[in-house]
Amino acid sequence: MLKIIVNRRLAYSQVGWLLSPARRRASSYITLPDANLRGKWIVITGGNNGIGREAVLRFASCGASIVLGCRQPPPHEKHPDVTVADCIAAARSAGHESSKIEWWPCDMADLSTVEAFAKRWLSTGHVLDILANNAGMGKTASGKLTKTKDGFELVHQVNFLAHVYLTMHILPSLARAEDPRIVCTTSCMQYYGTFNFSNANTTADPRSYSHSKLYFQTWLTELQSQLSSTPTLCHVAINGIHPGYVNTGIWTPLQGGTEVKPLKFLDRLLNRVVSVFGVDAEQGGLAIVRAATAKACATVKRGGEGGGRYFNRIWPAEPMPQTTSPVCRQLIWDFVDGELHLKEKGLLDIFNIE
Ligand SMILES: NC(=O)c1ccc[n+]([C@@H]2O[C@H](COP(=O)([O-])OP(=O)(O)OC[C@H]3O[C@@H](n4cnc5c(N)ncnc54)[C@H](OP(=O)(O)O)[C@@H]3O)[C@@H](O)[C@H]2O)c1
Repeated sequence: MLKIIVNRRLAYSQVGWLLSPARRRASSYITLPDANLRGKWIVITGGNNGIGREAVLRFASCGASIVLGCRQPPPHEKHPDVTVADCIAAARSAGHESSKIEWWPCDMADLSTVEAFAKRWLSTGHVLDILANNAGMGKTASGKLTKTKDGFELVHQVNFLAHVYLTMHILPSLARAEDPRIVCTTSCMQYYGTFNFSNANTTADPRSYSHSKLYFQTWLTELQSQLSSTPTLCHVAINGIHPGYVNTGIWTPLQGGTEVKPLKFLDRLLNRVVSVFGVDAEQGGLAIVRAATAKACATVKRGGEGGGRYFNRIWPAEPMPQTTSPVCRQLIWDFVDGELHLKEKGLLDIFNIE
């Protein structure tokens, strides 16, 4: 396992990556056929900005009704009202007069808002066709250990835990869809993550982003396995995607509060590399759209190639070996349950797990 991890890290190290087929894939221009999403409902986190915003614009122009789960953003970020208005314009100009597009409060750093969002969704009685777990952050503003009011490390909660919580709450409405999809924006940075849960909440680890993405990809693989072995859920597909190296706000971490201060040298360098070798947000968003709509990403039961996979943009790629290890998958499943008390809250009853 160690050899595989080292190889993957090398392939994605700066030099290895520049020379690799992964880089060519990272910067190649992709197109997707339009899907017919009329009558479908989509819930997405992090849809007001970056790749999520581009994905919702595309979903809207394909006729979907959409709820964006967003926090009140810092002043320099695009407000959800703006993205909602742009989506409605995209839908109407494509001839979709009846689709509904709204944003509701959902701060991934505050689990009470995630729960309220999920309950509000369930109370609509709508069937959910697509859940895009996309919101994420690179690092904390101060670079120091920052805990949420729920008591978890901020990056760990925003990128991973809050999405687990959201998914488990709204799974019943996905189960009622014909070909439901859950798309999780993980990252190739999972290759730099360490599978050691003591790093999740206790230190201001500069690699907390990578750990969170490794945990997310491993957890979603286990979730797919649980879904596949539950007759009422075996048509639900969940996949992880790396959207490419995308020129978005995630590479411009706040240096203090809500103020944007001059970036440190390494952050400036990273921004430069991404702007030269990366892709734009529209191209990044296509990775979400494809996993949500392409037949190949559905379960075998729905004529696809099965879920629980990892895609580098639109291409199937090898995730970290922990994802294929039943032991590691059980460990992350139990760890998350310990943090979120899913079983205690009845959120695992859907699998009839004792
Ligand atoms: N860009 C890349 O190269 C790259 C590569 C691999 C994976 N990813 C992943 O792609 C996803 C989207 O990132 P992006 O590149 O599009 O970056 P981005 O432009 O910074 O967008 C991040 C999105 O997440 C939202 N978000 C952050 N914290 C939140 C919170 N506490 N509650 C609710 N929403 C929150 C942001 O909302 P606000 O506007 O309120 O901040 C924004 O909509 C992330 O999961 C990221 O890890 C990106």
